[in-house]
Amino acid sequence: MSMETKWWKQRKNPRDLDAQVQEASALLKEKQVVAFPTETVYGLGADATEEEAVQRIFEAKGRPADNPLIVHVADEDQVSQLVSEISPVARKLMDEFWPGPLTIVLKSNGTAAENVTAGLSTLGIRMPDHPLALSLLRKTGKPLAAPSANRSGRPSPTTADHVYQDLDGKIAGILDGGPTGVGVESTVVDCTTEIPIILRPGGVTKEDLEKILPQVMMDPALADEKQKPKSPGMKYTHYAPESPLWLVDGNDDFFSDQLEQLKEDGNRVGVIASDELAEKLNHHPLIRCGSRFQLDQVAEKLYGALREFKKSDVDLILCETFSETGVGAAIMNRLNKAAVKRIQTY
Ligand code: TXA
Ligand code: MG
Repeated sequence: MSMETKWWKQRKNPRDLDAQVQEASALLKEKQVVAFPTETVYGLGADATEEEAVQRIFEAKGRPADNPLIVHVADEDQVSQLVSEISPVARKLMDEFWPGPLTIVLKSNGTAAENVTAGLSTLGIRMPDHPLALSLLRKTGKPLAAPSANRSGRPSPTTADHVYQDLDGKIAGILDGGPTGVGVESTVVDCTTEIPIILRPGGVTKEDLEKILPQVMMDPALADEKQKPKSPGMKYTHYAPESPLWLVDGNDDFFSDQLEQLKEDGNRVGVIASDELAEKLNHHPLIRCGSRFQLDQVAEKLYGALREFKKSDVDLILCETFSETGVGAAIMNRLNKAAVKRIQTY
């Protein structure tokens, strides 16, 4: 089924924005789905209390039904309406990191539509730190279920154009807020356990969490491919670019040698590299993703870079690996999921 997708973009004066948010919100109240910017990536929103609306998200994305959605809220009152209890730890996290890139998993009280949680008794909730997202939430007056606004399996969208590439004709509209800032998705933390568990690394780092929590764990499944992940979304192919992605784990000379070898063998190679590595390579096409010492920049540019290379232009994509400190944990989590192969020096 195809529909006209509105792209709310041009704004001649500030009142245009209000009118556009109003229009998007009216569509959400009619159980339609609308993409909107958050500080992490664009989300594909629908009324989280309406099963029919939520169903449209799964259809538009081609998302497996057993992968639960994150519910976005405008204030803490909306959280109380959705969960059976807010533990002291959860309260602390909200006070410290909301609005912001942290999703808190709590026990659902059944108010959210059943398909939001994909049959789980828990609910992932976050308050996004983006004026457009917050104004859409306030105007709609409902919690909004919103996964990343990409076709399932593709890199998450960090611009409205990315959303348009993936979902034109499949959704009611796209609220354009320019490029998102953080670039990788929110950190998902399970607060239903004695010790909070990071189910997905993201914009709020483990180091950030450790500053305010006595204890926090990484889901062991994040490190071990064989373990069943607790966050259902972590088991699917994800973030995949059009051409196969290979990670190169070694120093810059090693990267350069591998690249030359692949070119000699007749491969058309696209490169994703930090500024530091890019300076040492004489190669095209190459996309820079910022300094390897400024991982915030890398996070911001990562998904755009993965979308840049088209199947018609390159046979494979080579990308360097990054330090796993801070937001590097999220960057490497996504790169490992997107990659089909890893070349190592040892
Ligand atoms: O930054 C973000 O979180 C973005 C923006 C749009 O807010 N959203 C996002 O949603 O990344 P999505 O659907 O692409 O990823 C949601 C992740 C999945 O890995 C899912 O399995 C997990 O959160 N999740 C959601 N509810 C959960 C729950 N109740 N228990 C465990 N994991 C949950
Ligand atoms: Mg996603």
